[in-house]
Amino acid sequence: MSSIIETYSRLAQEYESPENLNSCWGKMTKHCVGLTRIDDNTQLAVEIGCGPGIELTELAAAHPSTNFIGIEPAQELRNSATARISDLSNARVMDGRFEQLPLANHCADYIFSILAFHWTTDLPGSAKELSRVLKPDGQMDLLFIGRHNGNEFIKQTSPIYQRLIPLRTLMESVSMRQQMTVEAADQLFRPVFEDRLSVTESYHTYFDTLDGHWSWWCRIEGQFINIEPEIKADCDREVKSAIADLETVNGIPYTIHLLHVSVKS
Ligand SMILES: C[S@@+](CC[C@H](N)C(=O)[O-])C[C@H]1O[C@@H](n2cnc3c(N)ncnc32)[C@H](O)[C@@H]1O
Repeated sequence: MSSIIETYSRLAQEYESPENLNSCWGKMTKHCVGLTRIDDNTQLAVEIGCGPGIELTELAAAHPSTNFIGIEPAQELRNSATARISDLSNARVMDGRFEQLPLANHCADYIFSILAFHWTTDLPGSAKELSRVLKPDGQMDLLFIGRHNGNEFIKQTSPIYQRLIPLRTLMESVSMRQQMTVEAADQLFRPVFEDRLSVTESYHTYFDTLDGHWSWWCRIEGQFINIEPEIKADCDREVKSAIADLETVNGIPYTIHLLHVSVKS
């Protein structure tokens, strides 16, 4: 299992804290839910990387005639999602990941994913899996973060990471997240979905307090797992202070680079 998935499982409680869920990422998640497309013709909707199942539960309750499957590789988040949907007869949760989906060929009318695809470890393999599981006339919305994400923080914190973390470890850590541009996402999916595909990007700036931003660090903690604890503690201290320096009258800005891979029927 990848250190990203292990860390999501270990920090499941922190992930579900109100602070994280109300952070810029919680707001972005709500924005992404608004972009999903489920209607009366959707018999089976599959969410990949459903985390603790909050959006899965909301959508399954709102669409009782659609069956939902949430796929989540992190055990503790999967347990939360399973508990959350327990009152809904039209939803279930399964272990799995983009690279290997536990589903039959061409079974899904609709596949969606919110802020998870950037964690896949195999881009071409995942694109193939998604087309294997989606019905030939099925629809899909993958919403995930792109290469230019969080540029304010990156500019401010890169010199600290470069000074304190050995280059090789730093490179490994950075490469755990896919850093796709809109063009790269188009190139990946175009051969698979051809003219049913559209790939767009958007930028969303959110302002928060230092504590507000720090509450979502559990989302990226897995990228730092190979760093010596003392070095990590030094990084955290310096990074926190560098981020505090970004303070404006509106708060500390963070700009999310969102990629939207959409397939129409
Ligand atoms: C930022 S969370 C998003 C969870 C949920 N969709 C939400 O918006 O709150 C990222 C999720 O992706 C999952 N994940 C990590 N690697 C994955 C993979 N290779 N395939 C599918 N999901 C993965 C994590 O376990 C985690 O639940």
